[in-house]
Amino acid sequence: PLNVGIHAAEIYIPKKFVNQTELETFDGASAGKYTIGLGQLNMSVCDDREDINSICLTAVNNLLEKYEIDPATIGFLEVGTETIIDKSKSVKSVLMQLFAASGNHNIEGIDCKNACYGGTNALFAAVNWLESGYVEEGKEWAIVVAADIAVYKSGGARPTGGAGAIAILLGRNAPIVFDRGLRSTFMDHAWDFYKPDLHSEYPEVDGPLSNMCYIKAIDKCYEGYLDRVNKLENRKANMSVADYYLFHCPYSKLVQKSFGRLAFNDYLRNTATFEVPESIKEHPNLTRESTYVDKNVEKAFMDVVKAEQKAKVDPGLLASRNCGNMYCGSLYSGLCSLLSETPAETLAGKRVVLFSYGSGLSSSMFSFTVQTDDAAKAALNRISAALRVADRLAARTKIEPKVYDEIMALRQSVHNAKEYTPISSTKDMFPGTWYLVDIDGMFRRTYKRA
Ligand code: ACO
Repeated sequence: PLNVGIHAAEIYIPKKFVNQTELETFDGASAGKYTIGLGQLNMSVCDDREDINSICLTAVNNLLEKYEIDPATIGFLEVGTETIIDKSKSVKSVLMQLFAASGNHNIEGIDCKNACYGGTNALFAAVNWLESGYVEEGKEWAIVVAADIAVYKSGGARPTGGAGAIAILLGRNAPIVFDRGLRSTFMDHAWDFYKPDLHSEYPEVDGPLSNMCYIKAIDKCYEGYLDRVNKLENRKANMSVADYYLFHCPYSKLVQKSFGRLAFNDYLRNTATFEVPESIKEHPNLTRESTYVDKNVEKAFMDVVKAEQKAKVDPGLLASRNCGNMYCGSLYSGLCSLLSETPAETLAGKRVVLFSYGSGLSSSMFSFTVQTDDAAKAALNRISAALRVADRLAARTKIEPKVYDEIMALRQSVHNAKEYTPISSTKDMFPGTWYLVDIDGMFRRTYKRA
C-alpha cells in the first residue's frame, strides 16, 4: 500500500483574541451564555492588516520553514476557504509567491469553496493525487491549506466567530495514514448559512437550521462510515471504532451534542454497549428524523458519553475553544490540537475519526490510523514540537471587547476597498506573520512578513 497521509502540520493562530466572559458582559448577554451555553473560552481576532491571503501565506511559509521542506519538492497545493475577497483570483495563486525563488511553478491544485468544507475537499483531492499516477519523482509532496476569517454581524452569532489557518503536508509512507476506503459523504441543498452579499464579509445565517442540518449530517455520515467499516473489516462497529474524534467545531457545545448523537445512533443501530437511559426507554419509537432538535434525546446521550468525551473528543477542542470557528480550518485545528498535546506513545496505533461539515450543505466522515514504528513516533514528536498549540495560545494578546467591536467596524468599512493602506499596527504580531501592506487603485494587494 502507498500509505498516503499526514507528514507535518502547521497552524496559524492570530496574536489578538477577545475573552468570551468579557464579551458576554459587553454584549449584555446572560453570564455563562457564551462560555457554558456555547462552550467557548476565547475568540481570535484579525484586524485590517490580515486577510485570507496573508493568513494562508503565514501558515504555508511557516510549514515550509519549520519542517525544512524544499519548495521545489511540492507537486500539489490546494486551498479550502470561504473567505472570498476575489471572485476570480485564487488564494493558491497568491501562495505561489512562496515558490517563485525555487523556480517551482509546476504545482497542481487550486481553491475549493463551500462554507467550512473546502479544506476537506482539498484534503481529499491531495489524497487522490497522491494515490494517482501523476506524482513525479522528486515532487512527491502535497500541501493542503484550510483557513478562514469567520466574522458575523452583531447579535447571537457574533461570539461564534474566529480565525485561523492550517497547512498540512501530505505524502506517501506517512506516519499518519488515511484509512483507505473509509469515507462517507452526505450532501444536500439547504439555506442554513450562505454569503450572497459580496459587499459584506458577513453571512446570512439561520442558526437553528444550521444546527439541525449539522446534526442530520452527523447521522448520515456516521451511518455511512460505519457501514463501510462493517463491510471492509467484516464486523458490527459502533462508536468504539475510534480512539479519538475530531469534529468541525462552530462552538464546542455543538461538538458535545454531536458526540452524544453518535451514541444515539448506536442505540438505534442496536450496537450500544452502554445502559440505555430511562428517559429514552420511555419513548421506544424514536427515530433520527424526529429528534434533530429533541432536548431530551440530546441531554440523555450527552450524559451517556460524558466520560468518554473527555478522553476521545476534548483533546481535539483546545484550539477551537480558544480561537473560535475557523470555518474551513476548524476541523484541522482539531487535528493540530490533538497532535500538539498528545504524546507520540499515546497516539501510536490509534484510529481518529474526522467529521467535516460545510453549510449549504456538504459533509464527510473519514479516518486515519497513526502508525506504530519508531520513524512514525519520531515524526509525531517533531510535529508536536512544531505545533505547540497551548504555548502559542498562552503567548497571545487579549484585547477588550470594545476594541474588538472597533476592529469589526473597521473591517466592515474597508471591505472591498481600493487605494487603501491598513491603519492597524504591525507591531504586535507573532514573528513570521504575513500582513497586508496596501491595496492599490486596481485592487492589487501587497504583503510583507513580520
Ligand atoms: N448560561 C448557560 N447556558 C446558557 C445561558 C447562560 N446564561 N444562556 C443561554 N444558554 C444556552 C442556551 O440554553 C443554549 O443551549 P442549548 O443549545 O444547549 O439549548 C445555548 O446557550 C445558546 O443559546 P441560544 O439562545 O440558543 O443562543 P442564540 O440563539 O443567541 O445563538 C447560535 C446560538 C444559533 C448557535 C448562534 O450563535 C449562531 O447562529 N451561530 C452561527 C451559526 C453556527 O455556528 N451554526 C453551527 C453549524 S454551521 C457553521 O459552522 C457555521
